[in-house]
Amino acid sequence: MLLAVCSSKGSPGATTAALALAGAWPTTTSAVMLEADPAGGDLGIRLKPAEGALPASPTVATLAAATRELRPDLVGSFAATVSEGLAVIPGFLTREHGRGMAGLWDALATACAMADVDVVVDVGRYDSASPAAALVSRADAVALVLRADPASVVHARELARQLAASGSSVVQPVVVTRERDATTDRADVDLIFASAAVPVRSSLHIAWDPTAVRSIESCQSPRGRTLARTKLVRSAQTIIDGLASSGVEVSEGVAT
Ligand SMILES: Nc1ncnc2c1ncn2[C@@H]1O[C@H](COP(=O)(O)OP(=O)(O)O)[C@@H](O)[C@H]1O
Ligand SMILES: [Mg+2]
Repeated sequence: MLLAVCSSKGSPGATTAALALAGAWPTTTSAVMLEADPAGGDLGIRLKPAEGALPASPTVATLAAATRELRPDLVGSFAATVSEGLAVIPGFLTREHGRGMAGLWDALATACAMADVDVVVDVGRYDSASPAAALVSRADAVALVLRADPASVVHARELARQLAASGSSVVQPVVVTRERDATTDRADVDLIFASAAVPVRSSLHIAWDPTAVRSIESCQSPRGRTLARTKLVRSAQTIIDGLASSGVEVSEGVAT
């Protein structure tokens, strides 16, 4: 499956949610988390594997350059395994570093859609003019990350409307919130979406959990006892279960 993770104005949390979702993947092998934010990414800096740092390459840009020869194993072959259960392809650092990818976004989307691994692709803050639009339109499901304050929910609602209108079949709103506020925040979001007749699924949440985020960033395994029990990883598992129950197929991934 190709799962796109995006956010709307006022709602940071896309990269963190994508990491947690890829880390919580239910198969014995992992999904690949691909950071494809056209505005630039920070995964290469945030992740601290035992060796000290991720190598400068491969990145989404080197993967895109390799799409001249499309193969099902291409995406998996570019992924770096940072811990048991988490394989990543970091983004380029700034929008300027991504200029070389102009013209390659469609091929990148094809490579992800045909990949023999499940791919969780982080496209960052999104609108229909985004260079990453091809990735979103090829995705089997779109997780729309939002915060629960009124302005962020309204921005997200309008993005959800756009996604639904442009043919994204499964749009899953994901509220970034503390566990204890999740029920209330989700109900508020659902009400605002429903009152505007936006055809998306009921919202789920990804837990605000700074300790777990630091553990994932220091490359502890999301499958290990400590991280697997955290609010962050458990909330990510619930989202994947929800997508799977709506008929989105979760398949095999690369061995880690
Ligand atoms: N679920 C979360 N729990 C704890 N901290 C989070 C969470 N989501 C985001 N953050 C914090 O907010 C910062 C920005 O989030 P990030 O996921 O990088 O946003 P985006 O990719 O949308 O710009 C992260 O560095 C992290 O510190
Ligand atoms: Mg990001």
